[in-house]
Amino acid sequence: MAHGTASPMDSSWKITEEYHIDEDVGFALPNPLEKLPDDYKAWMVIAEQLPALIENGQLRAEVEKLPMLSIDGLPGHKPQRLAHLVLGYITMAYVWDRGDGDVRKILPRNIAIPYCKLSEKLGLPPILVYADCVLANWKKKDPNGPMTYENMDILFSFPGGNCGKGFFLVSLLVEIAAASAIKVIPIIFSAVQHQDEGTLQKALLDVASSLKKALDVFREIHEHVDPQLFFNVLRKYLSGWKGNPQLSEGLLYEGVWDTPRKFAGGSAAQSSIFQCFDVLLGIQQSTGGESAAEFLQEMRTYMPPAHRDFLRSIESGPSVREFVLRRGDAHLQGAYDECVKALVSLRNYHLQIVTKYIVIPARRQPKESEKPEEPSGLENKGTGGTDIMNFLKTVRSTTEKSLLKEGRLM
Ligand code: HEM
Repeated sequence: MAHGTASPMDSSWKITEEYHIDEDVGFALPNPLEKLPDDYKAWMVIAEQLPALIENGQLRAEVEKLPMLSIDGLPGHKPQRLAHLVLGYITMAYVWDRGDGDVRKILPRNIAIPYCKLSEKLGLPPILVYADCVLANWKKKDPNGPMTYENMDILFSFPGGNCGKGFFLVSLLVEIAAASAIKVIPIIFSAVQHQDEGTLQKALLDVASSLKKALDVFREIHEHVDPQLFFNVLRKYLSGWKGNPQLSEGLLYEGVWDTPRKFAGGSAAQSSIFQCFDVLLGIQQSTGGESAAEFLQEMRTYMPPAHRDFLRSIESGPSVREFVLRRGDAHLQGAYDECVKALVSLRNYHLQIVTKYIVIPARRQPKESEKPEEPSGLENKGTGGTDIMNFLKTVRSTTEKSLLKEGRLM
């Protein structure tokens, strides 16, 4: 499908199906498929039993025995997204296995070939991405029930008990809480075009209020994710093979490429939600330094192409920030600042979370000399491969500097 033909410069611009954004769940895949067609049973059987297969040491042998399957029997977007999720889980488990430093550097051809073909078709990299493990990895227990943590579950698990469920579902619920703000974007562009300050002010306040709700959901992470399990278990399975000393050359996808390829691991930095509002509000992360900007741009290549196109289409829209500045109206500026403040609060809170879930557990790790099996370098890195605190503080401070009025938040 050709993406990105509609533009917010057209007054009739809507967030159509073209951008794969749903009214209710935003960037998440609405009601993901839970089972692949029968021909793909061999993949499903492994993906459904990953923790047990890893525990009893059979995972790699089972993967090596897989038949070579063609992806031609996966018609349509939802079966393809499910297959990408399934193959992503299997690949991460195959590479990292028990997460004890015994890594595989070659992905066997029987999985590498269909995985890379499918990835090419979907425009995603052949590694587990946020669009897989968060956006397409969920179901409602009672289909008629609400979208709440209690009524939801993930489709596949890594070792680490309920930690994966907590991390993936809370991220998903943050996305869903912010979905109502995405719906307001066309109203914002239309108001700017028609120079309708009243509508713009109200729409901006609606965005701010949705982002505040997203922060409330974020707080649930403490209830559902254990820091030690996150740091010592789950994070290992989300790690990629870019900037990772354990796979410094990358991963060789047998039968696909002659040389190893490097891909960053799964990270919520691959979510479109924060980037979408940065772009809308004219918060230029590029001013925060080359590496932060480069990383965020690179993360776009891990998003579904339709979402990437959506970000680009907002970039090509009229500048909300310039309009608000030009008008010089204190109420309008206040509404704009409410949105920026909501983003700063989200990023502040996120920094606290990263301290609790990565920085503090990393300090409790034995010294490198005491654990020869795991090479250094990963403790201060996110699964996406960044030097986390510097990066996250830069992004937060660029956001804060975009406030129009004096009175910084910290
Ligand atoms: C245990 C919970 C979490 C941890 C430990 C965590 C960790 C990290 C780390 C280390 C990064 C730096 C990039 C990297 O190398 O991966 C990052 C970036 C990011 N994370 Fe999280 N994260 C968590 C939850 C979330 C949630 C629930 C969301 C929202 C859905 C989120 C959204 C983001 C975003 C948007 C970025 C990019 C930086 C920015 O735009 O501010 N994270 N996260």
